[in-house]
Amino acid sequence: MQRRHFLQSVGVATSAILAPAWAVSADNNPLKPAPLFHANSKLTCLRGFQGQDVQSEHAWIEGKLPSDLRGNFYRNGPGLFERGGQRYHHWFDGDGMVHAWRFTDQGVAHQARFVRTKKFVAEQQAGEFLVPAFGTAIKAKIPMRSADSMNAANTNVVQMGGRLLALWEGGSAHGLDAQNLQTQGVVTWAPELAGMPFSAHPKVEADGTLWNFGTMMGKLILYQFSPQGKLLKHHVMNGPNSAMVHDFVVSQKHLIFLFSPIALNIDKLKSGVSMVEAMEWQAQESTKVLIVEKADFSKSRLLELPALMVFHFGNAWEENNVIHLDFVKSADMGNFQNWMPKIMRGEDVSSEPSTPAFLSIDLSRQRISMTERSENLEFPRVDPRVVGQRNQFIYYPVAINKTENNALNGVMRLDRESGKTDSFDFGDRCRLEEHVVVPKSVASKEGEAWLVGVGFDIQRQTSFASVFDAQNLAAGPVALAHLPYWLPHCFHGNFYSSSA
Ligand SMILES: [Fe+2]
Repeated sequence: MQRRHFLQSVGVATSAILAPAWAVSADNNPLKPAPLFHANSKLTCLRGFQGQDVQSEHAWIEGKLPSDLRGNFYRNGPGLFERGGQRYHHWFDGDGMVHAWRFTDQGVAHQARFVRTKKFVAEQQAGEFLVPAFGTAIKAKIPMRSADSMNAANTNVVQMGGRLLALWEGGSAHGLDAQNLQTQGVVTWAPELAGMPFSAHPKVEADGTLWNFGTMMGKLILYQFSPQGKLLKHHVMNGPNSAMVHDFVVSQKHLIFLFSPIALNIDKLKSGVSMVEAMEWQAQESTKVLIVEKADFSKSRLLELPALMVFHFGNAWEENNVIHLDFVKSADMGNFQNWMPKIMRGEDVSSEPSTPAFLSIDLSRQRISMTERSENLEFPRVDPRVVGQRNQFIYYPVAINKTENNALNGVMRLDRESGKTDSFDFGDRCRLEEHVVVPKSVASKEGEAWLVGVGFDIQRQTSFASVFDAQNLAAGPVALAHLPYWLPHCFHGNFYSSSA
């Protein structure tokens, strides 16, 4: 019901400008500093751009790029936060900007373009926000025809069936040309699925099979696609009550969801606040664990956990009728509701911890046990060869040595079997984003890989791509590809090797 109420409350009835990013950097900005964002060198990447695309043919390489690391590293994140003297209150609201870091024999090139959603195009022309955002209450100034009217296409980018998809959990995927990142428009998988949500966290198994979901009006939509991108089956079912489900995980036989106890206060929503502001944490309620059979989406079971907050999972597998999975746990919605608006104003304040957690779900006994660790981290990833299979390693950006304000300033590999960690600390010089696992060309084992991600150098006020040997993070990056400009922070992305 939640999304329907939200859309009703906001009025729903049922050229690329090639300018270098340094043109808006803190040092070179010809305009005055953004009035709604306090200048803060550590949070420069949250200032956002003004709608311009950017590119750089040659990043400056520090170290040596591995000879077998060739391909395209695509990422997506919110890139524009201000229009017409108004600034979004929440990081999740910004318009999607898709990045391509291209690793070739000539080095590393970077290109980024805003996704030309209907929202972005209309608001660029108008010079002001025209539609409500997830975390910012804005009165609609144009007709809201569906959830896609406010689709920001800002959360992830995946390659599927020969094209890229820019993903946003509340609505349709947007197709992009993989060569030049031009927007092709919303994707409809089947006539009856037009405009249905397609989450930003699809899971892709080693053979290319893709699983995904969407949540809308209390319903859960499930999808299975072939490695060629053909929709094999879909199913709509009633889901447990939660105002937000961001990610899920797959094992060999199941899809597993955690529904955190988040209620939507409809009266608050009708009073004019944003959807994020209308969400209420139900500490006395349970987190619902929904387990759906891959072979037959109509078969599912529901278990419970104490109230906990989750955004991201690493992986799942099952043995002897027990599902094992990992995720990143927070106590409640504190970061999501309170910390985000502060950092979006440029206030460098501490976030609440988010830490590794592990579930063992005994399907025979219908019982769940949970273990936890204490590192402060987010954005878990695993080797793409073990998605839905037993995995040994998980990789995270991490706040090492409890840095100032719990900022993510390093990378960490966790060995689930031994409990040992391997990590590298950039100190308080850098802020790190998600890092993804890229198997080495002759690798045969899980973890024989490069770990590739993006970071922001606070001293230089520029962004870089980082490459680590995933088997020896402590040795430091084998290469950093520095851009001459900074980039807005991204959420998620994926590396597609040329040889794959
Ligand atoms: Fe996410």
